[in-house]
Amino acid sequence: MLTNKQTHQKITMKHALTFSALCLWGLSAVQAQDNDMIGQSRTISQSMLKELGQKLQSAMADGGAVNAIGVCNMQAPEIAGRVSAQNQVKLSRVGTRARNPVMGVPNDWQAKALAQFDAGLARGDKPADMEFSETVVKSDGSKEFHFAKPIVMQPMCVACHGSPEQISPEVKAKLTDLYPNDKAVNYQPGQLRGAVVLSRSIP
Ligand code: HEC
Repeated sequence: MLTNKQTHQKITMKHALTFSALCLWGLSAVQAQDNDMIGQSRTISQSMLKELGQKLQSAMADGGAVNAIGVCNMQAPEIAGRVSAQNQVKLSRVGTRARNPVMGVPNDWQAKALAQFDAGLARGDKPADMEFSETVVKSDGSKEFHFAKPIVMQPMCVACHGSPEQISPEVKAKLTDLYPNDKAVNYQPGQLRGAVVLSRSIP
């Protein structure tokens, strides 16, 4: 026969076990959901960068940098908008120093991601291995998921983001016309140019 006290202890133990099992299950479910979102965001971001890179490269080959400005100016936001709508996310590009003063300026979490990428590059981490993700609870109690991948300067980027000697007078004139407050110059290959950033609300 169990005394009252023993029965009580046994029940408490059982509850404690069930409780921790539930917690573990809850944790792994959240973990799995996070991993899903990270994987999906990675795929979306990489496919946007790939599409943009291909369009930029073929426009440069066709008509040089002056022609290719249209790809960055018109097609980059178009691709980002289409991919965002298809996947119910908000996808765009930001810069460490922005050319586009509306789309290209990082907000707080994006600036945090850029700072991490910069530190990673300085340590010698590979850009392809770097990514940022977090889930935040907003003031109204809703949750938001954030994801970012670094965008690093390549040799072909200097035609529009390099030093004054690397940017032709025609390109310079067109850029000044479109972006009077352009800050996205004087970058060199290997440097962090910006990030592809994605956010989505979690139901
Ligand atoms: C033909 C000129 C041109 C070339 C080449 C070019 N860019 Fe850009 N880039 C632009 C323009 C124009 C914008 C502004 C686009 C907009 O209005 O959203 C821009 C914007 C960006 C942005 C968004 C942040 C910002 O500053 O507004 C990133 C990131 C970026 N470029 C990275 C790159 C990288 C990396 C390369 C090389 C792979 C590259 N660019 C090559 C013209 C160019």
